[in-house]
Amino acid sequence: MSFDNLVKVRHSTVNFIEDEKMTEEDFKNIFELTKTAPSAFNLQFAEYLVITDKEKKERVKELSHNQYKIHTASAVILVMGNKNSIELPEIEKIYGPMKLLKMIDELEYEMTIETIKQYSERLKENPNELDMELARNVGLHAMLFMLSAKHFGFDTCPMHVHNVEELRNEFSIPAHLEPIMMITIGKSVDKVRSRGYRKPVGEFVNFNRY
Ligand SMILES: Cc1cc2nc3c(=O)[nH]c(=O)nc-3n(C[C@H](O)[C@H](O)[C@H](O)COP(=O)(O)O)c2cc1C
Repeated sequence: MSFDNLVKVRHSTVNFIEDEKMTEEDFKNIFELTKTAPSAFNLQFAEYLVITDKEKKERVKELSHNQYKIHTASAVILVMGNKNSIELPEIEKIYGPMKLLKMIDELEYEMTIETIKQYSERLKENPNELDMELARNVGLHAMLFMLSAKHFGFDTCPMHVHNVEELRNEFSIPAHLEPIMMITIGKSVDKVRSRGYRKPVGEFVNFNRY
């Protein structure tokens, strides 16, 4: 499918066909494409908790205003931002192998680590900015996930996360992971929501000045 078609046929699914199973291979294919998403300093903040277990899905449904599509979806996925991504061990995990493979030299490595440390300090001093940074990075990742899913024949619906503390307890989500959004995934029933009104481009794009 061409990219413009892919973008046009992605819709937020109204409801899923019940009992459609997704395999590990299905998820692997989708995530292999999704992992190419951009991220600040390539720190790759996004983490996914894929919930396929029926009972566990029901628990998420209860904690999410009982939206029925969580029941019929093959999986409900929690998309989270990892606050540890700005800690040195995580930074070294990304840049260490690049130095080893001589993709960057020692000097570039040291300069990059130093720059990221400063960025990291700024975020730690300003929790609102850290939240924004997680939302930016995770949002881009999640959009690529939904397009990749469609590419492999699966439908999705993005959702807000509700009752975060209960979800944390239920799924033992550690404090450094911040749930940002949910995505239900599966095979859509035939009913496709028509595309909601979209503002004309001229209404939301300006060039050079307001
Ligand atoms: C942050 C966010 C939360 C959303 N929450 C829900 C939701 O709880 N239930 C739902 O059916 N759709 C939800 N949606 C989907 C939107 O309603 C949908 O994207 C919008 O109406 C445009 O439709 P389209 O995605 O089919 O183009 C959400 C979308 C976003 C981005």
